[in-house]
Amino acid sequence: MSDELDVFHIMKTARPMRRLKPDPVPQALLEEILDAASCAPNSLNSQPYRFLVVRDPASKAFFGERYDAAMQPRFGPLVADPNDKSPTARNVRTALALGKRLKDVPVLLFICGRRDWPMAVPESERQGLAPPSYGSVFPCVQNILLGCRAKGLGSSLTTMHQLFEAELCELLGIPETFGIVAVLPIGYPEGNFGPLTRKPSTELTYLDRWGDAPGN
Ligand SMILES: Cc1cc2nc3c(=O)[nH]c(=O)nc-3n(C[C@H](O)[C@H](O)[C@H](O)COP(=O)(O)O)c2cc1C
Repeated sequence: MSDELDVFHIMKTARPMRRLKPDPVPQALLEEILDAASCAPNSLNSQPYRFLVVRDPASKAFFGERYDAAMQPRFGPLVADPNDKSPTARNVRTALALGKRLKDVPVLLFICGRRDWPMAVPESERQGLAPPSYGSVFPCVQNILLGCRAKGLGSSLTTMHQLFEAELCELLGIPETFGIVAVLPIGYPEGNFGPLTRKPSTELTYLDRWGDAPGN
């Protein structure tokens, strides 16, 4: 097996790719990724997720405009200082820039989850719409990100849709029984895949009892 296909290499280099070429992404390639990603664990194998592949320019433009309007006031102030070159500032700048590019990405993949109350919420306290079953959907979302990386496609996880979800559901015909869990812009990347910066697990892992980890 080549290093390129080693799962550890894929996991460690699947950084968010927010600059994407306009080149089309073949539907068959997407299907291959979604088929494999669907092997993720999910409750009782009920597969309570649905994929919505959006290529329509008007829908992408709508999403980009709303996403940008939601991002700028929340995250713009964090990068008010143009001299701030910290990793956080860099990260925020790339996340903000994505909003302007969304209208031009080849695919917006909406991953929706069936609404289902978490067991911990007693029936007497259930009001309004249940949240989508995040636990059964996010393993699949991560698999899609890894599958894209393995096939040379760039993507990134976005969740800002929460601020304009009702409008999106109306536009795209998503029924009330489902909620949008994540939206992934997908396309061939402008830049290179590369290593991610994370703390070593020893700094995050306790042994036997909380607080007894070597790194703490
Ligand atoms: C639940 C969740 C929601 C996220 N939402 C967004 C988003 O809306 N837009 C975005 O650009 N990145 C989003 N991200 C990606 C993170 O911002 C990113 O992974 C993090 O800043 C670390 O950057 P790195 O992966 O490049 O190291 C999200 C990540 C998670 C886990």
